[in-house]
Amino acid sequence: MTSSTPRSPTIAIIGGGIAGLTLTIALLKKCPHLPITLYESASAFGEIGAGVGFQPVQVRTMSLIDPRIATAFEKCNKGNTVTEPPRWFTVRVADQRKFAGSANGEIVLGKDEAGGKEKRIIRLGDEVFVMPARRGLGGGVHRAHFLDELVKLVPEGIAQFRKKLVDVTEAEDESGEAVLHFADGSTAQHGAVFGCDGIKSRTRAIVLSDDPCTNAVFSGKYAYRGLIPMSEAVAILGEDEPRTNQMYIGYHGHVLTFPIANGTLMNVVAFSSTPAWTDPNWVVQTSREDMLQDFTHWSPTVRAIMTSLQKPDIWALFNHPPAPTYYTTNPLICLVGDAAHASTPHQGSGAGMCIEDVYILSELLSQCHSSRDFESAFRAYDAVRRPRSQRLVKTSREAGQLWEFEGEGVGDDLEALERNAMKRMDWVWDYDILEDMDRARGIMREERE
Ligand SMILES: Cc1cc2nc3c(=O)[nH]c(=O)nc-3n(C[C@H](O)[C@H](O)[C@H](O)COP(=O)(O)OP(=O)(O)OC[C@H]3O[C@@H](n4cnc5c(N)ncnc54)[C@H](O)[C@@H]3O)c2cc1C
Ligand SMILES: *[C@@H]1O[C@H](CO)[C@@H](O)[C@H](O)[C@H]1NC(C)=O
Repeated sequence: MTSSTPRSPTIAIIGGGIAGLTLTIALLKKCPHLPITLYESASAFGEIGAGVGFQPVQVRTMSLIDPRIATAFEKCNKGNTVTEPPRWFTVRVADQRKFAGSANGEIVLGKDEAGGKEKRIIRLGDEVFVMPARRGLGGGVHRAHFLDELVKLVPEGIAQFRKKLVDVTEAEDESGEAVLHFADGSTAQHGAVFGCDGIKSRTRAIVLSDDPCTNAVFSGKYAYRGLIPMSEAVAILGEDEPRTNQMYIGYHGHVLTFPIANGTLMNVVAFSSTPAWTDPNWVVQTSREDMLQDFTHWSPTVRAIMTSLQKPDIWALFNHPPAPTYYTTNPLICLVGDAAHASTPHQGSGAGMCIEDVYILSELLSQCHSSRDFESAFRAYDAVRRPRSQRLVKTSREAGQLWEFEGEGVGDDLEALERNAMKRMDWVWDYDILEDMDRARGIMREERE
């Protein structure tokens, strides 16, 4: 095709969220020979006013891409309370219905003393167990603050705004390059396109030729999201719970709280269930009354949290069916982040997967000089990243059920729930990305030989 093209292909990145911005930063650093333009449909970079959490495995990968990304994360996270040993979440039963029919509103756990477990009495709101986190820098940040820090690492002139991609076609000049078509009628020609355009990705539809797995499907869950100033949260809930990560569990719902913005805000995500989502919008405004209705049976703590939420929005939670591929070669288009594998948030790792994608991809691209090199890089990226990121989508959806007393073979059995919870993050967190990096380099070398 174009392996004899003398100049290096120019790169288009579609979308400036966490995936698109980190990819831009990575390529600027590792591939100075590849000219880059980032196209964003909005009029400026921006993230929503909500929290996002990263675990040490993902923050280490940020460092591997560029230490300044980990520094940016740390700057947004510095004042958060650090627990020793580190905790992911303290899990509490907060649904009164779990205690219906039990004597004095108490549940007895650890009856099986042969199993070495001490007998414990649990009341509404009590800690059932703690899910440990791994040691190292991690935790919650305010999305907009983190994005602002990433934007500072992108020089002027790289990004173009109000550029909504509508189509990609193959150039007619026999270069094999991609022609990008934007909603404003303009076009641009590039050697390779990186689709970082999120869950409703246009590039995904193009790569998958509108295969049925293109569109995200409703997961059965939606979430209210909001922030509470930490001082207010502490006034309502006391010193303990708001400053560390809490998971309040119950029937068909659960509520997460964790500190963000240096511990100055408490981030709240309150999940609930519904069989179908019919509104064409996935984010809708709601009223405090409707929201409280969903938590009628919950503990005073949870109801107090919900009452304090400012301007609650509802987010319908969708995820992608597994795509058979993350790239196409005529022209060269590769999917990154949510565009490739949008997940529910129940294992807190969707954005972490974006970071991992970017590390693997940018290292491979640093060895690319021709379109043919790009093809081998895409194939290696796809081979290494697709299984892991699609496993997250699947297990995350299952986790949503687990936290809401719907887990297969688990239901509302708290001890079975604990056993499942304690192991389910291991493969995400105890992951050595350098092994996959070696594997990807090996695949790329084979391809080129
Ligand atoms: C409730 C909730 C909580 C979450 N919590 C966590 C968490 O704690 N930890 C975690 O790791 N992950 C979490 N996630 C997942 C995480 O938010 C996503 O995986 C991540 O933000 C995806 O980033 P992205 O850059 O791929 O996509 P996006 O952030 O969606 O960015 C896409 C960008 O592309 C632009 N765009 C879209 N279409 C076009 C087009 N046609 N042309 C040009 N530009 C376009 C958009 O304007 C946007 O800027 C959570 C998700 C949800 C819903
Ligand atoms: C958090 O703290 C860091 C370092 O102390 C500071 O640079 C940053 O601006 C703070 N951010 C917020 C949102 O308070």
